[in-house]
Amino acid sequence: MTGLKIAVIGGGSSYTPELVEGFLKRYEELPVSELWLVDIPEGEEKLRIVGALAERMVEKAGVPIRIHLTLDRRKALKNADFVITQVRVGRIEARIKDEKIPLKYGVIGQETNGPGGLFKGLRTIPVILDIAREMEELCPEAWLINFSNPVGMVTEAVLRYSNIRKTVGLCNVPIGMKMGVARLLGVEADRIHIDFAGLNHMVFGLDVYLDGQRITEQVLDLITSGDRSGVTMKNIVDLGWEPDFIKGLGLLPCPYHRYYFQTKKMLDEQREAVKKEGTRAEVVKRLEEQLFELYKDPHLNVKPPQLEKRGGAYYSDAACSLIRSIYNDKRDIQPVNVRNCGAIASIPPDSAVEINCVITKEGPKPIAIGDLPVAVRGLVQQIKSFERVAAEAAVTGDYHKALVAMTINPLVPSDAIAKQLLDEMLEAHREHLPQFFKHRSFVR
Ligand code: G6P
Repeated sequence: MTGLKIAVIGGGSSYTPELVEGFLKRYEELPVSELWLVDIPEGEEKLRIVGALAERMVEKAGVPIRIHLTLDRRKALKNADFVITQVRVGRIEARIKDEKIPLKYGVIGQETNGPGGLFKGLRTIPVILDIAREMEELCPEAWLINFSNPVGMVTEAVLRYSNIRKTVGLCNVPIGMKMGVARLLGVEADRIHIDFAGLNHMVFGLDVYLDGQRITEQVLDLITSGDRSGVTMKNIVDLGWEPDFIKGLGLLPCPYHRYYFQTKKMLDEQREAVKKEGTRAEVVKRLEEQLFELYKDPHLNVKPPQLEKRGGAYYSDAACSLIRSIYNDKRDIQPVNVRNCGAIASIPPDSAVEINCVITKEGPKPIAIGDLPVAVRGLVQQIKSFERVAAEAAVTGDYHKALVAMTINPLVPSDAIAKQLLDEMLEAHREHLPQFFKHRSFVR
């Protein structure tokens, strides 16, 4: 059996030890022989630290995986079997701006939703499309597995604006929801199945099963019976749910739905939190500094538990299970971001959706659900329109498209605020948005 070559773009990320752990756990089924960690020059120090930890983890596991560290993306991509992208264009400083600037205008500051999500998309999409173009040349048979946020918008852009067909967007929210339900019920997660459908960070559990038995109503009662839902993420405050709303909805919401169904409460809470500890990005910056101090310890040879304070817990499980199932043609069911292909009737067939898929060697095959319940269909379509217009703006650098994307986002209250926000954020992120400045289409 020949070993696999995996390239991780953004390899210096603090999440990389999770990924390494995931590959080590699955080595028997997924014989990785080369793991290439790539970063940009500004990330070199982190890359060295994470790379050394990865080497110690591999040595402890005693498996023949070779870790390569490089700043040369092309070298890493050459003949890769799987390319994992986990980039943060503009690094944490850009995320701080994404989360802070909207608050001045009374709008939620969040890295994947609202204005923050739009700007993260505008910065990230051109970089991912560059990588896709290089893959066409250097590893045309490889799979592109993207975790870079906003995953829905990025997947939409790759499907629409690149020639790469073997692409999947990946998120930990569905697996986090499954783990949360298992915790609430006090059972092992593998006994739980959830029918997921929607978009990234806008996904619903249509039904929940325990050992094949439908238990949706019991779970909805449980998530609303205390003052906390139990289905949580470290990066999103849990303000509980209005029980009668959830009962009426009949769906398991994801933690990101709080931004849409509890907008005012979330905004107030965020303003308070910012006064105390700063934005989530600032909290993460401090957490990352601590993590990298731990990673430097030459005796550390496992993923430290402190990494679980990050919102991205279980990413490695999602990513490595996906890669394992593609490689082995497992035909198991996993929720991922792929082309809809008619699986959700009210979303265009060529758009990206987050949905349960059968994972085969030919890629994920979405499981058709018919349509989303009418109560949430409009919101999901609205977010899809936002993602599409935003992706087009990212590719073209068209100011007016960006303004339309900002204005149609449900978290932005008006066209006038959208324009002020757009102008200030374009200026703040100028360095990472060359597409908006080269044609001078943006006039203040
Ligand atoms: C969740 C989301 C991810 C996001 C992460 C942020 O896991 O699904 O898409 O990247 O939270 O977590 P952080 O610890 O960086 O705030």
